[in-house]
Amino acid sequence: MKKLDVVLGLQWGDEGKGKVVDVLTPDYKVIARFQGGPNAGHSLKFDGDGFVLHTVPSGIFRSDSMNIIGNGVVVDPVILAEEIHSIEEKAGPITGRLKISKRAQLILPTHRMLDAASEAAKGKAKIGSTLKGIGPAYMDKTGRNGLRIGDILSPEFRRRYEALKTKHLGMLAQYDFQFDISDYERKWLAAVEELRRFEFIDSEIEVNRCLDDDMPVLAEGAQGSMLDIDFGTYPFVTSSNTMAAGVCTGLGVAPGRVGKVIGIFKAYCTRVGGGPFPTELSDETGEELRRIGNEYGATTGRPRRCGWLDMVALKYAVMMSGVTELIMMKADVLGGFKTIKVATAYEIGGRKVEHFPFECGEDLTPVYREFKGWDCDICKVRSYEDFPAELKDYISFIEQETGCPVKIISTGPDRSEIVIR
Ligand code: IMO
Ligand code: MG
Repeated sequence: MKKLDVVLGLQWGDEGKGKVVDVLTPDYKVIARFQGGPNAGHSLKFDGDGFVLHTVPSGIFRSDSMNIIGNGVVVDPVILAEEIHSIEEKAGPITGRLKISKRAQLILPTHRMLDAASEAAKGKAKIGSTLKGIGPAYMDKTGRNGLRIGDILSPEFRRRYEALKTKHLGMLAQYDFQFDISDYERKWLAAVEELRRFEFIDSEIEVNRCLDDDMPVLAEGAQGSMLDIDFGTYPFVTSSNTMAAGVCTGLGVAPGRVGKVIGIFKAYCTRVGGGPFPTELSDETGEELRRIGNEYGATTGRPRRCGWLDMVALKYAVMMSGVTELIMMKADVLGGFKTIKVATAYEIGGRKVEHFPFECGEDLTPVYREFKGWDCDICKVRSYEDFPAELKDYISFIEQETGCPVKIISTGPDRSEIVIR
């Protein structure tokens, strides 16, 4: 019996999950998303072309893969249909290799409005949401009001849609917020019709059957562990469980059926949106990281906040997901920095704290360990032996601290720019 492997981000998102899944896909038959929605922006690059996926699993460009949008995902039909069109322009029809769970929740046009109205009302305390309606859609899921993909097939669908919309309009009336959904709603209803050409499935049955049949399945996480609704920097988080436990509820796979947990992290840290970020650099070094790493959001285009690697947060994420191996992304970006720092603890009110704390406020100062940088470009390196000694030291330190091997090191955005040990 096969076990399901998981790929997930260990920081605040944008670790490079798209590229990694694309690189790993040849080893898997089925790729499944288990949580999140179009707040994700998974970038892939091959044959000189770049692609950003929001809802579709990152295996879609390999013609022999099956891609499943799991029950834990929230789906905006407009964004999904647009994404499908652009994929089909490049790769031809994908109707046969994309399936959607009947239990996945729908994001309504009014969910987007509620997201925007709620954020606007928060003023300075705003989360910096991607405004895709994620929070309100998950609220309706747990509030037991949501509409699901499988409901599209019901003759009652339109009536139920109108009823939920009316409820949302009542909620929106509480805000001082102007909006007009008519345009988006038209597109939304058309997109819902279009999605009918894809198979709506009981994905929990299908995924377990694939595993029974010895088919390798990869679960693709979205966002990152530090954005987890339970363990992230609440309330500056997303609305789903982004760690390995989310796979069990988001795909219907029992904990004992989870195999490898592959954790992805950047050689430094970024965060987009508001909220605590202990190692953030608000100086020239932070700007350098942003410039060299091209740290701008794939979904919203916002500049990302940049800082050094945070070992306290990384170890926390590794612990909670039971990560079995690591993949380090964007190692090339650190080339040229004379000194590289890693936070190994925090100081809070004169006290040294070595675990990720509940209180993550302004009185927190990271305790850094310094490493010598490597003054060379590693983009062309294809074997671990050819890495500069300083980079190997950096990797060894990370392995020692986390207790996990770093199996893959990415040296550039392209599919081919990778070192596998
Ligand atoms: P990928 O999958 C980075 C952040 C938002 C915001 C917070 C809540 O590309 O790594 P939401 O739209 O979920 O209500 O936003 O979470 N966020 C992400 N940051 N990468 C993502 O996805 C993110 N998805 C959400 O910026 O701070
Ligand atoms: Mg992103």
